[in-house]
Amino acid sequence: MAKTISPITLFLFLLLSSLSLTLATDYPLSTKSRWIVNNKGQRVKLACTNWPSHLKPVVAEGLSSQPIDYISKKIKDMGFNCVRLTWPLELMINDTLAFNVTVKQSFERYGLDHELQGIYAHNPSIVNIPLINVFQAVVYSLGRHDLMVILDNHKTVPGWCCSNDDPDAFFNDPKFNPDLWMLGLKKMATIFLNVNNVVGMSLRNELRGYNHTAKDWYKYMQKGAEAVHTSNPNVLVILSGLSFDADLSFLKDRPVSLSFKKKLVLELHWYAFTDGTGQWKSHNVNDFCSQMFAKERRTGGFVLEQGFPLFLSEFGTDQRGGDFEGNRYMSCMLAWAAEKDMDWAVWALTGVYYFREGKRGVVEAYGMLDANWHNVHNSTYLRRLSVIQPPHKGPGIRRNHHKKIFHPLTGLCLVRKSPCHDSELTLGPCTKDEPWSYSHGGTLEIKGGHKSCLEGETAVGKSVKLGKRCTKVKQISATKMHLSFETDEGSLVCLDVDSDNNVIANSCKCLTGDVSCEPASQWFKIF
Ligand SMILES: *[C@@H]1O[C@H](CO)[C@@H](O)[C@H](O)[C@H]1NC(C)=O
Ligand SMILES: *[C@@H]1O[C@H](CO)[C@@H](O)[C@H](O)[C@H]1NC(C)=O
Ligand SMILES: *[C@@H]1O[C@H](CO)[C@@H](O)[C@H](O)[C@H]1NC(C)=O
Ligand SMILES: *[C@@H]1O[C@H](CO)[C@@H](O)[C@H](O)[C@H]1NC(C)=O
Repeated sequence: MAKTISPITLFLFLLLSSLSLTLATDYPLSTKSRWIVNNKGQRVKLACTNWPSHLKPVVAEGLSSQPIDYISKKIKDMGFNCVRLTWPLELMINDTLAFNVTVKQSFERYGLDHELQGIYAHNPSIVNIPLINVFQAVVYSLGRHDLMVILDNHKTVPGWCCSNDDPDAFFNDPKFNPDLWMLGLKKMATIFLNVNNVVGMSLRNELRGYNHTAKDWYKYMQKGAEAVHTSNPNVLVILSGLSFDADLSFLKDRPVSLSFKKKLVLELHWYAFTDGTGQWKSHNVNDFCSQMFAKERRTGGFVLEQGFPLFLSEFGTDQRGGDFEGNRYMSCMLAWAAEKDMDWAVWALTGVYYFREGKRGVVEAYGMLDANWHNVHNSTYLRRLSVIQPPHKGPGIRRNHHKKIFHPLTGLCLVRKSPCHDSELTLGPCTKDEPWSYSHGGTLEIKGGHKSCLEGETAVGKSVKLGKRCTKVKQISATKMHLSFETDEGSLVCLDVDSDNNVIANSCKCLTGDVSCEPASQWFKIF
């Protein structure tokens, strides 16, 4: 039966539809097998940076250096679509801290006078507002810049995280009362109930410590998940594993049991030091990387196969280039993240911290921004991350049968120097859609009119080019990232890269055994 539409209904309808047009993503998000999807069922890939707001001052870092909106814009400009925003539980369970301490008071009590002057200069409107309102202001600013937010309960007491000795490492530790934690989660979930860009809550960062058990993990994490979902059914509920979130293996035999569906995401952390101090230094890198692929699958990657999204919510390394183990790990980790097409959040956005572990102005070596929160810290590093920012597969992603041949060391991909079918090969932006195809043990071929595939007509140290006489290209090493073929002269070579990023043939190196050898210039991940 037809019903007349009142002018006010019409007005509301128009208002709502105009609002929805301005949103880049159709919230809320949910899950569909291992993918996170929007309300149209299309994949949304989380490509986030962590923005710490859980240290002693309980103010998102950087606000003494740049205006909030400037930082939000910078995040967007770097190609991220989301922020994992950390918060200490006390912000929700201690009303004095949340409502009665202003930014000014919080900075003054830690002697951060210089930093306070910075707040006056760059964010004068927040000087005299309570800490909870600054937290909200940051979330709203991110929303204005079309950035999604994952609210991450990082710890209980404000301060740097994490060690086994912390009094808030695991449930029922002196500073980790599960009831207060659930209360805090509910409050946080409720505060952001109608804030569209808050798409997920990460319930507790890096559970760990002497008292951690899988039994208690299920007991409390399931309750916490229900509490969040009841208070805010829109958000994804994101659960961190044991042992500093390096271990979800216990889920293999006993999945999480919840009353609701399509909202559960698991999270995993992976740093070089996760693999054991000194390990990346004392092994052959190619062998060790392949062992780490297997380890990551065992400790977390398997959840993708079980049909749950896995959010690699912390990873990263020293961006100043001097971290020997971190550099070795980084190419391996990137290859893995690219192949799995993971959702992720890099640690961290920070240029410099106001006050960390008793020291003022500590630079974040892993940070995406420089110490002024102005420039990109290391553009090569950002380029390497940019390859894993866009989604490659999943629901609603235009099916693309072309392969990418990713060179994780540089963050570039194998491309033709010119569009001719006998072109030489070089490295170029991975956004260039080269129609590569590859069949195992087969040919590496550019699809198109003329037959154009990797040819054997080259020699050690010489350029590699395309042609009609295909040679067989094999993934020969444990990581499957060495691409080897036989030259017309009969020598076995691997694809390599010279100092000008030309792709050349070289003797295959560091395949196994040798500990001092660096294979990454010969690593190509086909995905
Ligand atoms: C906040 O401060 C006011 C005035 O100093 C005080 O009366 C009130 O009890 C405080 N509230 C909390 C929650 O600490
Ligand atoms: C609550 O926060 C205030 C302000 O930081 C602090 O003085 C007080 O000790 C906190 N209370 C508890 C129970 O931690
Ligand atoms: C571990 O649990 C025991 C007993 O509940 C408690 O006394 C202790 O403080 C906990 N350890 C840590 C490091 O929190
Ligand atoms: C930037 O990072 C790359 C590796 O990602 C490293 O080789 C280089 O030394 C770094 N540059 C600077 C200026 O720190």
